[in-house]
Amino acid sequence: MTNQSILIQRADQARDVDDTPVNSSDNRNLNQVSHARRRVLKGGLGLLAGPFAASTLLSACASREGAPAAFRDSPRPAIGFKPVPVASDPGYDRVDVPEGYTARPFFSWGDPVESGAPEWRPDAQNTWTEQALQSGQNHDGMHFFPFPDAPNERGLLVINHEYINATIHPDGPTVTDDEQGRRVRPLDEVRKEQAGHGLSIIELRKDPRGDWQRVYPSRYNRRLTAYTPMTLSGPCAGAEAMKTVDDPQGRDVLGTLNNCSMGVTPWGTYLIAEENWKNYFVNRDTTDHAERREHHRYGIAAGANSHYNYWESADPRFDATPRADQPHGGYVNEPNRFGWVVEVDPFDPDAKPVKRTAFGRIVREGCTCVQHSDGTLAFYSGDDTRGEYVYKFVPEGRFDPRNPKANRDLLDKGRVYVAVYHDDGTGEWRPLVWGEPGLTAADGFRDQADVLINLRSAADAVGATPMDRPEWVAVNPFTRDGYVTLTNNTDRGVDPDQPVDAANPRPENHHGQILRWREENRHPAATAFRWELFLLAGEQPPAGESWKTDHQYGTIDGDIFASPDGLWFDPEGRLWIQTDFSDGKSVYDAMGTNQMLCADPVTRKVRRFLTGPSGCEITGITATPDGTAMWINVQHPGISYPASDGKTRPRSTTVLITKNDGGVIGT
Ligand code: FEO
Ligand code: CA
Ligand code: CA
Repeated sequence: MTNQSILIQRADQARDVDDTPVNSSDNRNLNQVSHARRRVLKGGLGLLAGPFAASTLLSACASREGAPAAFRDSPRPAIGFKPVPVASDPGYDRVDVPEGYTARPFFSWGDPVESGAPEWRPDAQNTWTEQALQSGQNHDGMHFFPFPDAPNERGLLVINHEYINATIHPDGPTVTDDEQGRRVRPLDEVRKEQAGHGLSIIELRKDPRGDWQRVYPSRYNRRLTAYTPMTLSGPCAGAEAMKTVDDPQGRDVLGTLNNCSMGVTPWGTYLIAEENWKNYFVNRDTTDHAERREHHRYGIAAGANSHYNYWESADPRFDATPRADQPHGGYVNEPNRFGWVVEVDPFDPDAKPVKRTAFGRIVREGCTCVQHSDGTLAFYSGDDTRGEYVYKFVPEGRFDPRNPKANRDLLDKGRVYVAVYHDDGTGEWRPLVWGEPGLTAADGFRDQADVLINLRSAADAVGATPMDRPEWVAVNPFTRDGYVTLTNNTDRGVDPDQPVDAANPRPENHHGQILRWREENRHPAATAFRWELFLLAGEQPPAGESWKTDHQYGTIDGDIFASPDGLWFDPEGRLWIQTDFSDGKSVYDAMGTNQMLCADPVTRKVRRFLTGPSGCEITGITATPDGTAMWINVQHPGISYPASDGKTRPRSTTVLITKNDGGVIGT
């Protein structure tokens, strides 16, 4: 039996599984209040003695009066383009950018990457071994790494491939039922799907006419897949909970899954964030599943099959049911080997990727670095599930640009924190360190590796604030203020564990919001911060109404959008916002298709820069250092983009954007 509908075809189907909440903690009622009180009693008013002490408390909700004093000190970026309208036609199948700009499809699913790769076949008849040499599907986070000797003429573009669509097979996936009622997949299809995941690294150059082209072949061109060998490092490497029948040392893992957003280190490596890896595994022992927080706290399937693709039927590595007859329980620990930050050196094609476990294991959206002049670093990540948290990792060592060797293992030692957003606009980063209150052996945590593997449970224990699905984090290059997209959360105010609060103020939140914060003394290692809502997405309210009278309305000053997801500051301080909403759903009728917008962080004014084809998500953004070439991704277009002929199979595509006069994008 072929049944495409149960596998992933469109993002709205994926979403229903992606963001299923599994946080049953009751943090707001217990831990948060008690922790806050304890802190004030113990530490006095230290929190208010920082740079904010003299300023008025920030309004918890965005207003139209521009930024409060604490956030108004960023230089205003030049934003000069004429906005594009929403694309409301369901048959809309192209990318539009403002007058004076050009958007050109640049790198699509199936394009050759590694040497010897065949061309993409429009009938999807490429084999799995061919797919492993070609671009994967569902392009997501990405980054342009310039070559130092020609930074605006030559570089490596690194692109995540998040998941796969039914389009990867000629007639969609083949699924049969076995005698026990379990779904079964053919191995060659599973291998092709695994090869469609991972990462592409491609070399780019400007040609003599000044146009960007791919370099093929190139020694740098490289694919990572769901079965590429990788090394585990940091506190969890070698831990009992990382060992499997195939890897009794707990140090070598195959592949990376559901690579969503990303990060970049100051030493020029790329950080993959592994997002919805939980959907690739099943534990059919319901008793074990209920007792094993490594599984149930992350929403790993407990029924007949995994949530995505049913790979376990062809590849036993994805069957995490404990096996008493196999060393280390078979593959019961295999899911513990995903959800990390994977460091990749794009300039060294022979380097093995490293999974850095010091960051902790979450459904990780991204990993955005902020750097202080004293060498202190912090990396921010959201855990994108309804009611999950925002995290920060601070390496123990400092970045030293004069000593590259010393930086190599900076990401193996450090401290993870989780964010608490108080309603008065103050915030705390609470450390997730074994032995601290709530994280001791008596609390059920064996050691720091156990804390990191069960980071969600550790965050529950210290009273983290459940958020409206944290996605990307961007850092203002002038002020070091952090911005996080909270994409939406239909459970807000419905689930008793997720009551409405100042940071997540709308019940049944379809449109999402962007929150920003400033660390105390603007230091990445601070444990206190101030925060405010930058904007609430949604429709413009008519006179006399507001988001408080109807939750369809937001606080946007300018062009409307819903469900912010991708978020990036360019070097001149423009804030680029990308959206991911289900463009067929009636609550999003006013928004047209998914899009990219540009915001001024000082005035909060928003202009729509790009509209994408029906059915797609717009995600991933990077540019040359001089800002004259930008790349964004059209993920899973619904009709026939990039051919846009109404009949060719649609392909996820990296799009190159240039200004016709050669100027900086956005000006
Ligand atoms: Fe892959 Fe949360 O977006
Ligand atoms: Ca995302
Ligand atoms: Ca999303």
